[in-house]
Amino acid sequence: MGGHPGERGRHGLLQQARRRAAGSRDLAAGRGGVDEARRLVSAPPKTVLEVSPEEEAAIRLAVATADVGTLGLGRAIARPTDAADLARFLADPRVSDAIYDLPRPIDETNVRRWIVEGETQWRAGRRLLIVSREATGEIAGYSDITVWPERSAAELAGAISPSRQNEGQGGAGALHTFGWIFETLGVRLMCLTAATDNVRSARLIEAAGFVPMGTRDATRADGTVRRSLYWEMTRDQWAEKWG
Ligand SMILES: CC(C)(COP(=O)(O)OP(=O)(O)OC[C@H]1O[C@@H](n2cnc3c(N)ncnc32)[C@H](O)[C@@H]1OP(=O)(O)O)[C@@H](O)C(=O)NCCC(=O)NCCS
Repeated sequence: MGGHPGERGRHGLLQQARRRAAGSRDLAAGRGGVDEARRLVSAPPKTVLEVSPEEEAAIRLAVATADVGTLGLGRAIARPTDAADLARFLADPRVSDAIYDLPRPIDETNVRRWIVEGETQWRAGRRLLIVSREATGEIAGYSDITVWPERSAAELAGAISPSRQNEGQGGAGALHTFGWIFETLGVRLMCLTAATDNVRSARLIEAAGFVPMGTRDATRADGTVRRSLYWEMTRDQWAEKWG
């Protein structure tokens, strides 16, 4: 696991955010439009934190300026040029069956639209849709980090390619990403959902220290509802277990 930046790093981020408060107004303006549609499929955590305008601005800035290359080799923000490869990757039921917040039906047009929405929300400091590629250029996985800066919270969804599943890579990768989200984006809370029969996800989520908090109904892009297991973890709980 990577090291924690500590309070000094966070303080620096807050200072930077204050200095650039005027400049971040355009990020705040990114709340409407595309984001309204996004809310149909991704709900913020059950726990509601009190968040100052400075903290909110710092998180928006951290998301909008994040270097996802620091997550690992081959990681990049998804671009429209990834649409064909990503659609092919996601169309495999071993990748997408368990994931509720994907564009449906999964085809190149819908995936391209999803990527473009992701870029808009990234610039607004609210989302990181990340593609991971092998050295050969094949898609190795994707991560979709939804951020609610006004709630100091984030959610992670994602998948790895079937050839990489069931070898412990998903568990290790998810753990690394959870730490990166807390440390790099500066959120104080994460929430996760998984289908009630997704044993692999439930195991890795609880091994990471997330606290089970019952179920919640998640709405798919096509409007159908999926009952999900639901977990949360605070940054303090994370630091206590892994710091
Ligand atoms: C979920 C996913 C990221 C997990 O990654 P993975 O590398 O396949 O999983 P791991 O090998 O790390 O296994 C995770 C845990 O499940 C356990 N597990 C695997 N198959 C199991 C089974 N059939 N029954 C019980 N436990 C099982 C593993 O032993 C491991 O637990 P451990 O670390 O305590 O030994 C990956 O399988 C994936 O991308 N799946 C498709 C998409 C998806 O489900 N995304 C998550 C949506 S919430």
